[in-house]
Amino acid sequence: MIGIDKMNFFTPNTYIDLVTLANKRGVDPNKFTIGIGQSKMAVPTITQDTVSMGANAAFPILDKEDLETIDLIVVGTETGIDESKSSAAFIHQLLNIHPFAKSVEVKQACYGATAGLMMAKDYIKAHPGRKALVIGSDISRYGLNTSGEVTQGAGAIALLISENPRILALDDTSVAMTESIFDFWRPNYRDTAIVDGKYSNEAYVNFFTTIWEEYKNRTNHSLSDFSAFCFHLPYSKMGRKALLPVLENESEELATKLLKNYDLSTDYTKNIGNIYTGSLYLSLMSLLDHSDNTLKENDLIGFFSYGSGAVGEIFSGRLVPGYENFLMKEEHIAMLDERYDLSIEEYEAIFNKELPKTDGTHPLSEAKYDKSLFYLSSITDHQRHYSQRQ
Ligand code: COA
Repeated sequence: MIGIDKMNFFTPNTYIDLVTLANKRGVDPNKFTIGIGQSKMAVPTITQDTVSMGANAAFPILDKEDLETIDLIVVGTETGIDESKSSAAFIHQLLNIHPFAKSVEVKQACYGATAGLMMAKDYIKAHPGRKALVIGSDISRYGLNTSGEVTQGAGAIALLISENPRILALDDTSVAMTESIFDFWRPNYRDTAIVDGKYSNEAYVNFFTTIWEEYKNRTNHSLSDFSAFCFHLPYSKMGRKALLPVLENESEELATKLLKNYDLSTDYTKNIGNIYTGSLYLSLMSLLDHSDNTLKENDLIGFFSYGSGAVGEIFSGRLVPGYENFLMKEEHIAMLDERYDLSIEEYEAIFNKELPKTDGTHPLSEAKYDKSLFYLSSITDHQRHYSQRQ
């Protein structure tokens, strides 16, 4: 058995309320809260980036033995900070993982962390007893006053992958699919994404239904085998659009169960926004943290990973007996409760701030807003330096 032994997420401690944003933009708040299904949106200061968020997500779950046993660190991201050096190499140092590990970054839009998870599973199969750290870390930016604005967000997830995992044992069968399309993309010279929202919704649903048919053929699984399905969630309504068509021919009892668990899986996304690569795993944490132990050992959980451009994959895993003892529900809820509610003026000022791009030493401070353990503290001659708050 190989799978998720420990897991955690991080989101910056600054956010905006989307009713306030709707009022400011002259939009009916119900469009944001009901139509799109989002309540709050994380807004990172310039002192939080892919590296610091990834380190903040991973640090709380790693003990001394993990640091000596992790051989592979994979960061899935589409908002990396360097075209050459991987964010994983920075994170390897910040977390103090032993030197004889390999650190890489992988990219395929919001699918990156799943690619990392599959690499980690194969690595552990080939190297029993060792561990892998998979991180998904991103800042989602579409721009002020754009149709995508309400679906921005920021955050990271960290998964410790091992043999005999204590939370979720991954199955071997999965089905992936690739098709080169332009539903969402970001050329290197832009810091905001370009999205064809309607086309992206269609592509997402089409990928799910197409892969699902192939998955059923290859695995002999039917929907009734699953206790819950977790989705990549660019916003909380998206997965529902994919799930509803496949529920049409199922019993009311099954549809009610899967939709109830779907709702539980969306709670963190509703309050954080799109975290891109980490989103699917944020859904899993939301589901397990909120299910009040109604999900039992050996229950089968399905996963739909989708990264625009596009690659999708359906895979599954079974809950391990005692999994509920290894969740971090209280810490997650406290993290969200203790955030600072920005005014729209503060949000716009933070959004428009840019990192220095010139030679020399540039100390950075956002101490009023950013209380996170790891943060970007300076840039010296184009080298990012991070600090750990005492
Ligand atoms: N009350 C309640 N619901 C309302 C409403 C109101 N006053 N006004 C609109 N709505 C509903 C619409 O009916 C629609 O629901 P539906 O999707 O079930 O049809 C929903 O709110 C969104 O409205 P729409 O007009 O489609 O919004 P939009 O053109 O502003 O675009 C997104 C919304 C989500 C497509 C856009 O924000 C976007 O592209 N986000 C990025 C998505 C992404 O990242 N995709 C790539 C990764 S998968």
